[in-house]
Amino acid sequence: MSTQPKSVAVTIQRGAPGVEGHTETFDVPYREGMSVLDAVVWIRTNVDSSIAFRYSCVNANACKECMVSVNGKTEYACTARLSTESTTVGPLTNKTLIRDLVTDIVPPKENLRAILAARDGG
Ligand code: FES
Repeated sequence: MSTQPKSVAVTIQRGAPGVEGHTETFDVPYREGMSVLDAVVWIRTNVDSSIAFRYSCVNANACKECMVSVNGKTEYACTARLSTESTTVGPLTNKTLIRDLVTDIVPPKENLRAILAARDGG
């Protein structure tokens, strides 16, 4: 019989372009089956409302906006189950960082700035 922890440590990589990054670790109440996104939402709701992350469809695996690095592996935060061990959540390393867990995941041809530049000849 396994015992469930009451809480787990979740470390979040924080940062922004031009700012030295750092990590912050939070003690998150654990529920069996909770997702990494559930943990990040709990942190933002209960501890630090300034953490930047993005999601939309939640569990439908349709929007892909919640893609982050979980313990070094690219995952959808909404479907990745939170480990009972400590977890580190960071931004995707192969995308341009916007802030904290948010990266620029929009394909270049869907980027409004690029579309306007192409339209205006620049
Ligand atoms: S929130 Fe849409 S895929 Fe995770």
